[in-house]
Amino acid sequence: MISPFPLLGKAPPPVIQPLKNGLADECAALHATAFRYSWGEHEFERLISASNAFGDAALDPRKKALLGFILSRVAADEAEVLTVVVASAHRRRGIGRQLVASHIARLRNVHVKTLFLEVGETNTAARKLYGDLGFVEVGRRKNYYRTEQPAEQIAALVLRRDIDPTQRRGWDA
Ligand SMILES: CC(C)(COP(=O)(O)OP(=O)(O)OC[C@H]1O[C@@H](n2cnc3c(N)ncnc32)[C@H](O)[C@@H]1OP(=O)(O)O)[C@@H](O)C(=O)NCCC(=O)NCCS
Repeated sequence: MISPFPLLGKAPPPVIQPLKNGLADECAALHATAFRYSWGEHEFERLISASNAFGDAALDPRKKALLGFILSRVAADEAEVLTVVVASAHRRRGIGRQLVASHIARLRNVHVKTLFLEVGETNTAARKLYGDLGFVEVGRRKNYYRTEQPAEQIAALVLRRDIDPTQRRGWDA
């Protein structure tokens, strides 16, 4: 039977907008849920307000709560993703893909031609997401990350995404 209330209980799509300093505390809290070495609120304030920083936030349109964010640092025509995270309760809804794609489009507008990032070799979710969005592996840093349980040293893969200034694809235009 078709539900008479098809949208009831279904989360509305997030709003993607530039990351503002007022969200530094929420960024720190969210970051701490995903990374062993997390950055505090003041660190995020410093990063977000830096003149060469570009961030995008995914917000719940109803509560304005932070669902995810991405933050990069730009130098000349290159940029490096410093971090990207989506709240665990909201993963696999396409938010990560939307954040990274919107971010690429915004970096293109400020004339960034190449975007780099590092990802743990065992981070299947992130590697799949980046691969889908056109990132390619260009390097490998052995024993770069350390995990606790089990205690392991994991390689970081260096990924690169060329940003063609003339290109306008559906997912990153
Ligand atoms: C990586 C991360 C940002 C992905 O966010 P997300 O909102 O769940 O990603 P999306 O829903 O947009 O997924 C996009 C694609 O990525 C891949 N993907 C995402 N999660 C996956 C998982 N758990 N397993 C396998 N593939 C996965 C899939 O290809 C997915 O597309 P599909 O759902 O159509 O199959 C999120 O898992 C996260 O915050 N992880 C912890 C922090 C982290 O590792 N950040 C990256 C550091 S480099």
